[in-house]
Amino acid sequence: MKIIAANWKLHKTPQEAREFCDQLLTQIPKLKAKNQLMIFPSALCLEAVAEKLKVTSVQFGLQNVHFEGQGAFTGENSATASLSVGAQVALVGHSERRALFHEKDEVLAKKVKFLQEQGLTPVFCIGETLAERESQRTIEVLEYQLREGLKLAFPQKSLVVAYEPVWAIGTGKVASLEQVEEAHQEVNRILKELGFNSATPILYGGSVKPDNASLLASIPHVHGFLIGGASLHVESYLAIASV
Ligand code: 13P
Repeated sequence: MKIIAANWKLHKTPQEAREFCDQLLTQIPKLKAKNQLMIFPSALCLEAVAEKLKVTSVQFGLQNVHFEGQGAFTGENSATASLSVGAQVALVGHSERRALFHEKDEVLAKKVKFLQEQGLTPVFCIGETLAERESQRTIEVLEYQLREGLKLAFPQKSLVVAYEPVWAIGTGKVASLEQVEEAHQEVNRILKELGFNSATPILYGGSVKPDNASLLASIPHVHGFLIGGASLHVESYLAIASV
């Protein structure tokens, strides 16, 4: 079973989200049942996706949540409210949240904990920048992000990790098979050292497209994908989902 997760980022209106789901629903019966589909729409589109998909096996959730479910937090997204429309998952620590919105490990750790307490599965994102890779610090960076971001996590509750090298996101530069294999093997090792289940799924993200998905899917410890650009169209999303 692979997890095929769509991160729509700040794309699509609620109407466009509904149209995507309608098209997806016509194709789901043809898909291999073994793959778990997940969709992360922008917050304003979550309910539209929920209305269409809550009776299916497709999981959906927010791209970012606050670490409290309600209160005086203007502009934040509520994990608790997402649960009420049927969400099962949420992204935490995407590199765009870390770089553009200055999210720090300490805050990410609280978000992971809160999601798990709420019964939602955090999809916790990690990844090195180009400068970090070029200075041979990739594994050290991944280890730091995992240790700090999962510091408050419950090892027995559900968790998904997504490895997304920052330099491969939206650039068309996919990491080499060797780079992906090494990173996933190390993430698996670190998760085990931190006491997490060795079966914790580890997704790869960064310029995943229909033409590179099956090779990437064959790498040990690659349990699925977190897809940006290619997840915006049903055809390319499902071409990846049929690997
Ligand atoms: P792309 O697939 O567009 O490179 O984006 C990857 C990503 O950031 C998914 O979270």
